[in-house]
Amino acid sequence: MKVLYVTSEAVPFVKTGGLADVTGTLPVAMERYMEKTWVIMPRYANIDAYFSDSMTHVCDFFVQLGWRNQYCGIDVLEHNGVEFLFVDNKYYFGRDYIYGSMCMDECERFSFFNTAVAEAIRVLDISPDIVHCNDWQCGMVPYLLKKKYKKPPRTAYTIHNIHYQGIFPWEWVNDFLSIPEWDSYSMRRGGNISFMQAGIVHADAVSTVSPTYAKEIMSCEIGEGLQDVLSAKRPPVYGILNGLDCAMFSPHNDIHIEHHYSDYAMEGKELCKSSLQYELWLENAPNTPLLSIVSRLTEQKGLKLIENTWEKLMECGVQLAVIGTGDKHFEDFFRWLSSRMGGRVAARIEYNERMSRRIYAGSDIFLMPSRTEPCGLAQMIALRYGTVPVVHETGGLRDTVVPYNKYTGEGSGFSFFDYNEEQFLGAVYRALECYHDKCAWEKLRLQGMRQNFSWEASALRYHEMYSDILNQ
Ligand code: GLC
Repeated sequence: MKVLYVTSEAVPFVKTGGLADVTGTLPVAMERYMEKTWVIMPRYANIDAYFSDSMTHVCDFFVQLGWRNQYCGIDVLEHNGVEFLFVDNKYYFGRDYIYGSMCMDECERFSFFNTAVAEAIRVLDISPDIVHCNDWQCGMVPYLLKKKYKKPPRTAYTIHNIHYQGIFPWEWVNDFLSIPEWDSYSMRRGGNISFMQAGIVHADAVSTVSPTYAKEIMSCEIGEGLQDVLSAKRPPVYGILNGLDCAMFSPHNDIHIEHHYSDYAMEGKELCKSSLQYELWLENAPNTPLLSIVSRLTEQKGLKLIENTWEKLMECGVQLAVIGTGDKHFEDFFRWLSSRMGGRVAARIEYNERMSRRIYAGSDIFLMPSRTEPCGLAQMIALRYGTVPVVHETGGLRDTVVPYNKYTGEGSGFSFFDYNEEQFLGAVYRALECYHDKCAWEKLRLQGMRQNFSWEASALRYHEMYSDILNQ
């Protein structure tokens, strides 16, 4: 079987979120089951020279976007046994950002990318059995393939976050992709077109990144208007939990942390905590619970709950370390809180991989009360680093964090069901109660560290999905 993955970002080349982790590591995990795997993505200007200097130019052609005729180069780089193909066009991707504003030319940039992918398959003369597209930025590929080829390759489409659908006025999309009106109804949202809806309707199978999220997106609360289209989909939407690159996220050999540790030698974790307190100008207090947040600072991540309860949290005598960027409102809030609570709260408003790892390693309790969470990787990383998560029981958080049962000692974290301040605080209080019981806490931490998040199980499920598609 040969699979071509289509994505707008992938590690180690570019990353703005969890999508890049998945599209950079899933193809590698699939490699062993496949005759061939490729990944195709835009060649952004901000891909590190270390990679871009080693790319080889394969071919170039022109892409018709309505009345426009745009250059498209294809460059290749092999990485971890997978062939990464890069779509090169300086006008669209030679910028100092990956995604721009939806009111600017995102519609044109990704219409170009989708059309270029469909064309590249012909020019490169590759014949993938499955083209696997991800998120709204690739949503038009299944439709364009059907339109272009008599015998199109079969397609899979994965939703990583239903909140971002790529919705644009019908006139814009039509101007770039020349979609006949009768075709447009399958992807219409009123007068607009949703790239994600196009992907759902036209792909041979649709999946999302956790079993719980697969159910949630069928409801009108979380489905963002796509619940009916999703419920009608045959075969039914697959919920396949993301894995984690366990070699990369391991406190045993993480190059970003100062002291290493593992489930059978935990001393390093205490040392990481004290280095972190020093580095973040927090009071050096080994017995003070250190809470942490590593997140995009957006409303979806549940930060309103933190904002509305910070005083109560602080009354528990804890410290808090936060790292991330996002909405100005939350950036300002955490800046303000750290100046107000100097020595007890530290906020780094930046994206910094090294510091993030030190926070995962050096803190005790990881807060991830996301309102919705398709899968979430941070809670899995926290678990691997022996940092006990407190999560909202939604999407992948529900599927990865096993609620602690204080009577049996089973579980790996703490969770709350209803999304409100009272329930959130309740879960934090339970976590703190356990923290103060040294014996129970150590056991709980180890249970989390030993949970299996490898890609193996997910790779098998994707393989099943591809086989189902080919047998349809
Ligand atoms: C998106 C989702 C996140 C998921 C990731 C990878 O970033 O918000 O929950 O883990 O995609 O699938």
